[in-house]
Amino acid sequence: MKKTILITWWTGYIWSHSIVAFQQAGYKTVIVDNLCNSSVDTLDWIEKIIGYKPDFYNVDLRDKNALEEVFKKYDFDWVIHFAGLKAVWESCEKPLEYFDNNIVWSLKLFEVMEDFWVKNIIFSSSATVYDSSNFWKWEGANEKWITWNTTNPYWTTKFILEQILIDLSKFSDFNVMNLRYFNPIWAHESWFLWEDPEWIPNNLMPFIMKVAKWTLDELKVFWNDYDTIDGTWVRDYIDVVDLIDWHLKAYENISLLSQPFPPREKGVKGIFRIYNLWVGKWVSVLEMIRKTEEIIWKKINYKIVDRRDWDLAEVYCNPEKAKKELWWKTQISLDESIKNSWRFYNK
Ligand code: NAD
Ligand code: WQD
Repeated sequence: MKKTILITWWTGYIWSHSIVAFQQAGYKTVIVDNLCNSSVDTLDWIEKIIGYKPDFYNVDLRDKNALEEVFKKYDFDWVIHFAGLKAVWESCEKPLEYFDNNIVWSLKLFEVMEDFWVKNIIFSSSATVYDSSNFWKWEGANEKWITWNTTNPYWTTKFILEQILIDLSKFSDFNVMNLRYFNPIWAHESWFLWEDPEWIPNNLMPFIMKVAKWTLDELKVFWNDYDTIDGTWVRDYIDVVDLIDWHLKAYENISLLSQPFPPREKGVKGIFRIYNLWVGKWVSVLEMIRKTEEIIWKKINYKIVDRRDWDLAEVYCNPEKAKKELWWKTQISLDESIKNSWRFYNK
């Protein structure tokens, strides 16, 4: 019997890639999204890759009744939940909107999951839940490292949702695969799926590509006097197709472990697993610029400016647990990611 997976907020950059991966792996995916930061045109792109349009419902998670109508139509085995809003600067300007959208609306989803006995969930968390005050002292935070001390509302929503899911696994039988990552980048090899925000991008790589295409004049490099290889920020960039493959591995791994529902005997706790999904290769901003220039044979104009308030100079997480327990390693090199993305931006 083909497993059916509900995917929330699919049409965003990262998660439209997940539809392709899960469909191509033989799972039926059903998508809900309120299209507040995406376009239904992504369905056409996905159809070009997998040959048909997956079931899609334009549902806002605040609308519990609409969500229940979707749950009535399918016998979901799992939910893959990508809590919606993610712009740090915007969360600092609209904290309550972020708490409402990312936390309150997620609770509606968890309530409907409980009502329909769908208690398996993969949650898109973030390395930003780690106590970032000590990042530079460690050879990479591992999954046991303390999580708190988040420094902006968006990161706080991730921390709070993780705490909620820990308690749901302890007291309501939820099985949770909690995946922490930080800097996904780039385009699908088919060129169709990409990160190409209609407005000024949030993240480094779309900025670099738009400067290379002269749709933006120059890249602002946020400060350069930090204790890193060249003074600029260091990050671990993971190709989004690799990232989604991790989700698939995580799904297959925990599906073997999670108990079938209806309910188990009273008091048997659900499973709560945490994994850092990281490449383990650190690249500074200037290194990223140089690498892109070498690959696309174009100069990237940039200027050193002041740092952003919330920025962390270095972000290191240790990926060993995921590599060992999910038996997986990244397949796509940074060079390949850059080539894929340039192929799209330069189309
Ligand atoms: P995105 O903004 O591209 O996609 C988010 C999607 O959520 C959009 O399609 C938007 O329409 C939808 N959405 C927002 N609020 C909604 C609501 N209340 N109801 C229904 N749909 C809603 O974001 P992304 O980059 O694809 O990230 C998706 C998830 O991955 C987020 O949870 C984010 O926190 C997490 N994540 C992203 C990054 C990153 O750097 N992109 C890193 C770590 C974790
Ligand atoms: C990468 C590096 C910047 C743009 C963000 C969110 C975080 C997570 C991942 C969800 C940084 C530098 C960037 C620019 C620059 N999302 N940069 N000039 O800041 O690492 O993390 O996305 O969990 O929550 O904060 O990603 O791609 O914005 O920046 O110098 O125009 O490039 O300082 O070090 P970041 P990014």
